[in-house]
Amino acid sequence: MMMGGAAWGASAPVFKPQSIELPADAATFPEGPNLKVVTQNCLACHSADMVLDQPLLPRATWAAEVTKMRNVYKAPISDADAALIVDYLAATHSPP
Ligand code: HEC
Repeated sequence: MMMGGAAWGASAPVFKPQSIELPADAATFPEGPNLKVVTQNCLACHSADMVLDQPLLPRATWAAEVTKMRNVYKAPISDADAALIVDYLAATHSPP
């Protein structure tokens, strides 16, 4: 009598892909003033990590950073929004 040859199926391990929800590498900014403006203007080209991984920086440095995003990388951010964004960064990511 022929055995074997048809063993697969019953005991073969079945690969079950797991679906888990991860934010696309910490793509969101923490709560703070003008959060919406920051979210709208600072996530087009890179994740929030690019900002959050920086050390705590003084306000003037953040202002220069936002200016750099606009001038060097051509981020389409208005003067008014840039000021709001600097307020957010100074409030949430500056030394005390
Ligand atoms: C038009 C695209 C664009 C937008 C919009 C943008 N950035 Fe950037 N940003 C870049 C690029 C390009 C880099 C450099 C990436 C690299 O070095 O890999 C960068 C890098 C950075 C860095 C890392 C330090 C540095 O100077 O390289 C910080 C901090 C940063 N961005 C903050 C911001 C903030 C805050 C905003 C919102 C005001 C913003 N970015 C919006 C393109 C953009």
